[in-house]
Amino acid sequence: MTRYSRITGTGSHLPPRRLTNDDMVAMLAPRGVETSDQWIIERTGIKARHFAADGVFASDMGAQAALEALKSAGCEAHDIDLIVVATSTPDMVFPSTAAIIQHKLGVAGCPAFDVQAVCSGFVYALTVADAMIRTGSAHKALVIGTEVFSRLLNFNDRTTCVLFGDGAGAVVLEASETPGILASDLHADGKHAGILCVPGHVSGGEILGDPLLKMDGQAVFKLAVGVLEDAARTVLAKAGRSDADIDWLIPHQANIRIMQGTAKKLKLPLDKLVVTVDEHGNTSAASIPLALDHAVRTGKIKRGDTLMLEGVGGGFTWGAVLLDF
Ligand code: UT7
Repeated sequence: MTRYSRITGTGSHLPPRRLTNDDMVAMLAPRGVETSDQWIIERTGIKARHFAADGVFASDMGAQAALEALKSAGCEAHDIDLIVVATSTPDMVFPSTAAIIQHKLGVAGCPAFDVQAVCSGFVYALTVADAMIRTGSAHKALVIGTEVFSRLLNFNDRTTCVLFGDGAGAVVLEASETPGILASDLHADGKHAGILCVPGHVSGGEILGDPLLKMDGQAVFKLAVGVLEDAARTVLAKAGRSDADIDWLIPHQANIRIMQGTAKKLKLPLDKLVVTVDEHGNTSAASIPLALDHAVRTGKIKRGDTLMLEGVGGGFTWGAVLLDF
């Protein structure tokens, strides 16, 4: 009998501090950094984002999202035999945020590790967990995306600091006799590492290089539009499905113009696009599971719907996962 993996629960967590675009305008003005609600909405679709309080880490938000996902799947932390966490903002250099979350969930023993693929992190993590379940290495996994990108932002750089937010999303992925995850397609091209990066590193007790986010927005934009259609077409072909089979497109929530462009290329009406970038900003690896959980809890996504998840970001990395929910 073929073994598949299937999402049986979703959860998410947003830190309570919500900043509107006007809050950002007021925060940046004393630095002499000019921006406006109009520019941010027109260029990105973002109206607000959440920032974590001092002392709140990726593991705290990831554990909260995981607890919600466990509840929605009707299981407990001790039922889990694999934890994969997608993050570029880990609590520490090491150990992994996954190991820290495991302890915060009050369990021990199962493998727990991080996947680092920046904004593509969740589709990478989901693909790894799916492969481990299909080969019998795991039965019930927690796959989490969690980020505190506010810690990486240069608030003197208006081209990046208004774009990102903090949050976490999680799914429980279980072995199943029926799919589930239908197909995945992952890619990376390291020659573009410089267009979206945090170049600093720790050496001899000091941070060497700039530890703040740098992005060539236009270069990322152009690459993203091209690769997202290709990845979507590849997973549809692998699964023997067509554009018309997609009930919901859940792309990485970075910019509404990229998301709508991808939907149009796949000939999807825009009401099949799940949008949370307006309220969350770009939460990197957390954006897809946050959007998924939001759409499930608001009753948009129903059991049996076919979902196209798509990630794109630093690395340069990109990928897609097609699944029956
Ligand atoms: O998460 C990983 C994936 N990341 C992405 O997908 C991001 C992809 N890139 C983007 O979303 C867009 O490129 C941005 C939103 C980052 C920028 O939008 P854009 O339409 O490419 O704007 P631009 O960089 O061409 O800048 C246009 C103008 C510039 O002024 P001039 O040179 O035309 O006078 C910028 O200085 O907008 C100016 N500008 C701003 N103005 C007000 C840049 N940032 C701001 C700002 N407020 N925050």
